[in-house]
Amino acid sequence: MKALILSGGKGTRLRPLTYSGAKQMVPVANKPILWYGIEAIVKSGITDIGIIVSPETGDDVKAKTGSGELFGARITYITQEKPAGLAHAVKVAQPFLGDSPFVMYLGDNLIQDDLEGFLTKFTQQQLDALVLLREVENPSAFGVAKVAQDGRLIQLVEKPAVPPSNLALVGVYFFSPLIHQVIANIQPSARGELEITDAIQYLVTQQANVQANQLSGWWLDTGKKDDLLEANRIILDSYLATAVEGEVDARSQVIGRVAIGAGSRLINCTVRGPVIIGRDCYLENCFIGPYSSIYDQVTLIDTDIDHSVILQRTKVVNIHQRIVDSLIGQRAFLGVAERRPKALRFMVGDDCRVELMAAV
Ligand code: DAU
Repeated sequence: MKALILSGGKGTRLRPLTYSGAKQMVPVANKPILWYGIEAIVKSGITDIGIIVSPETGDDVKAKTGSGELFGARITYITQEKPAGLAHAVKVAQPFLGDSPFVMYLGDNLIQDDLEGFLTKFTQQQLDALVLLREVENPSAFGVAKVAQDGRLIQLVEKPAVPPSNLALVGVYFFSPLIHQVIANIQPSARGELEITDAIQYLVTQQANVQANQLSGWWLDTGKKDDLLEANRIILDSYLATAVEGEVDARSQVIGRVAIGAGSRLINCTVRGPVIIGRDCYLENCFIGPYSSIYDQVTLIDTDIDHSVILQRTKVVNIHQRIVDSLIGQRAFLGVAERRPKALRFMVGDDCRVELMAAV
């Protein structure tokens, strides 16, 4: 059994952060989204992992993720020249996959359920494909499935205007090598992509053994800012353990589950968990509210933050109107010179600089 993680694509919905890196490398609770997928795959016992990357962001993914040693796996990087669809990515990966069955994992998806149970079902029942489903309120934003009483998949359609059910296709799929023959027979969709949903639908039409399983835990597709913040909230809520390695002075108050990395200093701050603060950060006179993730080498002075994600080496100074629901890129500077605006809501890209000034 092998694994194929899709970490290519353009990440247009997460611009401007994705101008300078892959969307799958944006950290959730201070860890790249992609790594959660790798860890889940390794935990299920699969260690031979191919990662699809794009020419633009492949180097970033490779440099940070490495050869697999970090995870106890062997990683092979496969460049997909253009984001021509999920089934196209499988086609490009065929030399790596050979005739092995595989789990395909979309690099921007996170699921709570362990993969082991699904893997066992897929293997024991010798399925041609096993897809995972989750009830959602907005099925038109996803692949949508219609399923028989016994779990057999009847119909699958990509982002339909009129969805046949509220069961969305989760970005984790199990395939036998039969999928390669099917992909060779499908045509690009109206949006010009080779769709994996069309390939699976083709399997269904051919009477192949395709099953669907509903997830019992949460599922997060982190493609957009608010989805990413929600993923950050859920991961902090579910997994964060208290671990204070940095220095917290006597005037600071740390409440609830809080992790503070080595080399970080907190002076006269209140931190109300769950909150993660990375390494080598400097925080002075700040309030850091629940569900915030502050990455490495960030400086925060006279600033209040809540339910936000801040990437590395960013500096925020003198913003006492609470910064909420914000995703702030790397190396950004946000500062208030005078007068206090009433509310602030940011999605600021890497290397941006935001200053709120009195009228000029
Ligand atoms: O998240 C679940 C949904 O993922 C499913 O419900 C849909 O059926 C499925 O088509 C997919 O829809 P998205 O519109 O969310 O796919 P997206 O373009 O965001 O791509 C998903 C991941 O695959 C992302 O990490 C980028 C990567 N990718 C995408 C394309 C199109 C590639 O590596 N290569 C590609 O050619």
